[in-house]
Parts: sequence; C-alpha cells; structure tokens
Amino acid sequence: MRQRLIAGNWKMNKTPTEAERFIRAFLAADRGADGVETVLLPPFIGLELAGRLLRKTGVALGGQDLHFEEKGAFTGEISAEMLIACGCRYVLVGHSERRTLFHEDDGLLNRKLNAALATGLSPILCVGETLAEHREGQVREKVTAQLCADLDGIEPAQIASVVIAYEPIWAIGTGETASPEEAEGAIRMIRGWFSRAYDEEIAKNLRILYGGSVNPENAAAIVAQPDIDGALVGGASLSPETFARIVVQAG
Ligand code: PGA
Repeated sequence: MRQRLIAGNWKMNKTPTEAERFIRAFLAADRGADGVETVLLPPFIGLELAGRLLRKTGVALGGQDLHFEEKGAFTGEISAEMLIACGCRYVLVGHSERRTLFHEDDGLLNRKLNAALATGLSPILCVGETLAEHREGQVREKVTAQLCADLDGIEPAQIASVVIAYEPIWAIGTGETASPEEAEGAIRMIRGWFSRAYDEEIAKNLRILYGGSVNPENAAAIVAQPDIDGALVGGASLSPETFARIVVQAG
C-alpha cells in the first residue's frame, strides 16, 4: 500500500522569519488524519530552522535542489550531506524551473540523483512535457526520454527511495491543471515504464505525484485517481491554511 504524499515547494519564497510563522501556523492547523505524509521544501536558508521546528512533528523536510559533489569549490552550492544535517529526508531533482531557467540537463540530473541516493536522501524526480509537446501528443515520448536518461544506471534496490512527480510544464503556476483523467493517464504510463524498465513489484510500490496548479478545490479529485499518490504543490503551499486544506483533501 503506497502512502500518499503531499509536498509543498515554496520555490524562492519566505525568509526564515516567514518560514517560522508558516510552520507554527501549519502545525496548529487541522491537517486531517495522519495517513498522509507531508513534506515542506523551503529555500536553503530556511532549512536549518525548519528542521528544528519540524523535528518529531511527523512533517518531513526537503531541499529544492542539491549539488552532486560531496564538498569543495562549488560556490553557491549545497551538498546532500548538508541537507541531511538540516534534517532533510527529501530533495527535489529536475524541477522544470531548474531544467529550463538553469539549463540542467539529464546528465547533470543523473549525477544529482546518484548523489542524493548515495547519501540516503529520497529524491523527488520531476518530469513533464511543455505545452507544445502536449499539443503534439508527445507526452509519452518526452517523459520516457527523461526517465531513461535521468535514471540511467540507478539500481532496482535504489528505486524504493525514489518518488516521481509528473508535472506538465503548461500546468505549473498557470492555474490550468491537467484533468484528473489526463493526469492519471500520464501517471499510469509512467508506472508502466517502471514495470518494463525495472519490474512489476517496483512499479507497484513506487509513489508518483501530480504537480501543476493543485489547490484545495481540485486536490481530492486528483489524488482519488488510482495511480496518483499525492501532489507536488507550488503556489498553494505558501499559505499554511491553504496547504493544510490540501493535506486534508488527500486523506
Ligand atoms: P504550482 O507549482 O502548484 O504553483 O503550479 C507546482 C510546482 O512547480 O511544483
């Protein structure tokens, strides 16, 4: 049985003071039953404080990115070990904003995945197609190419710690979501890819999230789909009350 997961990606929002205010309000809010795993992904400078506030609360912490090397002369970068030292269990890899705005290619993302897995972090690998690819019916082609390249050489035993987030780029921050059926179709296709590239059991146990304009109004219908195990939430994760309502909807 796959545990549902709702992750809040704050992107470049919230100072440590604002992060603390959010976390206190979020922990006090009604988040429904305990069945849904919840992860907050603050900017790097909020991680240490967030890690302290979230300890023993059942709410997990993750980074939005990492560098693939363990340490050294990589100005501005953060290692997997540093994320773990702040209390992170998860890290986003390959968010479309990193792929597009920061030119991160599949080879780089493969190294980041390896670094995360080698250190014991669970990577949340983001994949998804552009609007043009969507219109041209190239969802399968695009997403499977990303999976093949990003997961190249990743062993079957390592997949147990991986989470996939299917995020159609045209739905991110646009207010336009894929319909639950459309999201389910893409996510079922991804699960099918894992059963062929790895095996049936691995595919059955893999958690696959949907991301792209998820909010308290559409979350329940999305996570009710049989292959969708939760959501990666951007804009709607910035308010503690709104994000808590999404967690409740996923329960
Ligand atoms: P959004 O972002 O919920 O604001 O569309 C999702 C994401 O980028 O992960």
